[in-house]
Amino acid sequence: MDYIEMRDITKIYPGTVACDHVSIGFKRGEVHTLLGENGAGKSTLMNVLYGLAQPDEGAIYVNGKETKIDSPKTAIDCGIGMVHQHFMLIPTLSVVENVILSLDEKRAFINKKEVADHILKISHKYGLAVDPYAKISTLTVGQQQRVEIIKALYKNCDLLVLDEPTAVLTPQETRELFQAIRNLIAEDKAVIFISHKLNEVMEISKEITILHLGKVINSVEPCNTNARELACMMVGKDVCLDIGKEEHRPGEAVLEVEDLRVRDGKGVERVRGLNMTVHAGEIYGIAGVDGNGQSELIRGIAGLCKKNGRVAICGVDLSRATPRQILNQGVAHIPEDRQGMGVVMKMPIRNNLVLDTFYSEEFTKGFFLDWKKVDSKAQYLIEHYDIKTPNADNDINSLSGGNQQKLVVSRELDKQPKLLLAVHPTRGVDIGATQFIHQQIVSARDRGCAVILVSTELDEIMAISDRIGVIYEGCILGEMDRKDANYETIGLLMAGKTDEAACVAC
Ligand SMILES: Nc1ncnc2c1ncn2[C@@H]1O[C@H](COP(=O)(O)OP(=O)(O)OP(=O)(O)O)[C@@H](O)[C@H]1O
Ligand SMILES: [Mg+2]
Repeated sequence: MDYIEMRDITKIYPGTVACDHVSIGFKRGEVHTLLGENGAGKSTLMNVLYGLAQPDEGAIYVNGKETKIDSPKTAIDCGIGMVHQHFMLIPTLSVVENVILSLDEKRAFINKKEVADHILKISHKYGLAVDPYAKISTLTVGQQQRVEIIKALYKNCDLLVLDEPTAVLTPQETRELFQAIRNLIAEDKAVIFISHKLNEVMEISKEITILHLGKVINSVEPCNTNARELACMMVGKDVCLDIGKEEHRPGEAVLEVEDLRVRDGKGVERVRGLNMTVHAGEIYGIAGVDGNGQSELIRGIAGLCKKNGRVAICGVDLSRATPRQILNQGVAHIPEDRQGMGVVMKMPIRNNLVLDTFYSEEFTKGFFLDWKKVDSKAQYLIEHYDIKTPNADNDINSLSGGNQQKLVVSRELDKQPKLLLAVHPTRGVDIGATQFIHQQIVSARDRGCAVILVSTELDEIMAISDRIGVIYEGCILGEMDRKDANYETIGLLMAGKTDEAACVAC
């Protein structure tokens, strides 16, 4: 029998049927994956299960008994835990304080040490290593994710929803997470897994349910399908996984970085005398294990933090320039953290689409904003980049995660930049939209834009880069043309092994 069953669930938002008569069951001891395009209704279905959204129709059965889940508290009482697509942690507090905040207990005194001990017990049992007294802001994303899982396990959940847990993880962190999931399954817990990465889905799932436009299309087992078939079912048509790309013809140097040194928020030098040049009409992929200075390099180039060394764009020295001066030099930036750096959550979609260009002549009339022009730009971007929303007046948080990402990408690419800083540009984006975004980046490069692509996904770096640089401990350790690159050499360089990489290359 299913532990939890959702029967005929329909959820309607103004202008959108997010879930359309969805029936689905979840068993103990199994990983059940939800797969579907951005906006297919995966998070909404899970929000209904967790009591964050009320269905317009349908019912939920727990151990065969109809149960009204009208709040997360009821969901927790039914043994349901959820790790959301975007983390819900307070960065200035410690792990143990975040866990305490998530508890529903109304006690005058909570023994912090007791909670910390229990956290350690859970952490050992499931392989989720974390220091209970560490401040959240000092943890890596992978560690923060463990805290979110521990928060759910602390409340004794028997079914854990993981909404795109691997979108922000490095391959190593993903392996660790998968081990923790296997430990949960061995304990006879149920796991609902959501991901756009088909190889992961094939590896971890017992059952895969495909959603399309809010409806269940099919349920399959990994042994009876393959990645291509899954992609077709998701998108509703055959998908071409290759992008046609012509040979690159690099032009003048657009970005010149000399002896760049950048410190992180804690004062540790993360970029240590880095040199690089990127030319017009080329995509320069930066490969590397997360935390080797990628964030600080991009922040340094974009003028978002103090730095030493020289940064010049199209021959103009911008080493001391403000972020706006740098943007005005023709720089576009798809930042690593879309919600923290890319959008203003409480603002409507159309405002977000002109967030750093609203003051330009294009959108002003004298001292005032020309809303008609803002609206027509928003309409154009929504249609051209297939951002799924019924209305540009809606707040950003009405958009699905992948559609928030598409919004940032559309705004930045539409600037027709001379230099594009693209950090994880397809994070959380479905397979069709990933193809589309890659094509748009390649088109920008064909128009003469210089592109820096930062990604921890080696497949993405290999798919569209013309040149690849491997960053290690704040320096570019090796650089090669894409045609000379292979996974082994890059992997060795990523681990700092220059000698072995040279042997493989020759
Ligand atoms: N609070 C809300 N208000 C209005 N519309 C919403 C709201 N939440 C979701 N929607 C809409 O419901 C649809 C389904 O969104 P949902 O977040 O469930 O998609 P998803 O499958 O999780 O996509 P992704 O892969 O991008 O995360 C989308 O069209 C979205 O715009
Ligand atoms: Mg989602």
